[in-house]
Amino acid sequence: MISNISDLKRAKDEVKNAGLDDLVIKLDHVAYRVKMGQREKAMKEIADLVPYKEYKTFKVISMRATTSTLKLHDTLPVIVISEGLAEDSIVENYVKKYGGRIHHLAYLVRDIEKVVEIQKNKGVKFTTEDIIGSKEEGIKQIFTLPTETANHIIEYIQRFGDFDGFFTPSNISALMKSTEKLGEA
Ligand SMILES: [Fe+2]
Repeated sequence: MISNISDLKRAKDEVKNAGLDDLVIKLDHVAYRVKMGQREKAMKEIADLVPYKEYKTFKVISMRATTSTLKLHDTLPVIVISEGLAEDSIVENYVKKYGGRIHHLAYLVRDIEKVVEIQKNKGVKFTTEDIIGSKEEGIKQIFTLPTETANHIIEYIQRFGDFDGFFTPSNISALMKSTEKLGEA
């Protein structure tokens, strides 16, 4: 127990000393993956409990998935819910393995290159070598490997200009694909 507390203190000190205090801003979105055909049910379940409003829905054709987003007033985090549209979709394979659940928590950051550099130096592992997306597209993102204790991914996300989405049609495939090898996706 004592060693856990000192491990936690060490982790907090390391993060602070590395400058991450100023770089990681806030929780941006919480992403669920649910069974094929259950996205709308999941949205209803959550909307029954909290006055969420549907924000946007995207079809990710290349990944055979649909993603909806819910917003509580104008607050963050946005709730993102994805379902597979075919048995062999990455999303459906994930749910077959783990059940419907939270897949990742995404944190908005100021300088994603710097964040990733700091974390790589600390030994943090990501699902891709490179950051996905570009300034021109309005968004850059990367996924860590899942936590051992709760098996969800942490995403770092940086937006540019007036882009307010959670991925772009061109980078969502790379992002989803990056988790496939984990049997994780
Ligand atoms: Fe995300």
